Amino acid sequence: MIRPHDESSLKAGGLIARLKRRQLLRMGFLGGTLLAVSEIGGVFLPFFWVNKITGLGGKVGVGNKAEILAKFQATKAAPILYTESKFFLIHAPGAIAAAYRRCTHLGCAVPWTPAEDQFHCPCHGSLFDKNTATVKGGPAPRPLDLFHVSDQGGSIVVDTNPLDLMVRSGNAWDPAHVEVTDA
Ligand code: FES
Repeated sequence: MIRPHDESSLKAGGLIARLKRRQLLRMGFLGGTLLAVSEIGGVFLPFFWVNKITGLGGKVGVGNKAEILAKFQATKAAPILYTESKFFLIHAPGAIAAAYRRCTHLGCAVPWTPAEDQFHCPCHGSLFDKNTATVKGGPAPRPLDLFHVSDQGGSIVVDTNPLDLMVRSGNAWDPAHVEVTDA
């Protein structure tokens, strides 16, 4: 025989079980929704993510002007290579310039050759002057192209946009290409 007291506890037990079931269902639904949202986000987020440009094409900060000039002085103006951005900082007459290291003959990457004190293209032997990147020998038809440089409050920035090069037709250093002077 079930006493009234027992009946009410049974009712209370059923109610608790129903509440728990509802809570479980709700939590399951929420969990499923969160999972779906995070999966959709994972698929689409990379399309909206803007990668930082560090290589060729971006504006590259190369440091303090005074420090660059001190480095040139300490190394007898050895060109400073920025491998990822494909240029050399060179100490042109009275100026800091940036030479795109793509050979103007057939496009090989031109290395600085300290033993020769000049740039020496390994592909067909073109030689370029260390200060001006003008042609000293070989089949290259013109000096290495120059990137635009700017002095932004003492910090030097090189614009490595390959569509905005200073293409030099003559083989002599032209002061018209100077954008950042030593002074
Ligand atoms: S590509 Fe440099 S000399 Fe031919």
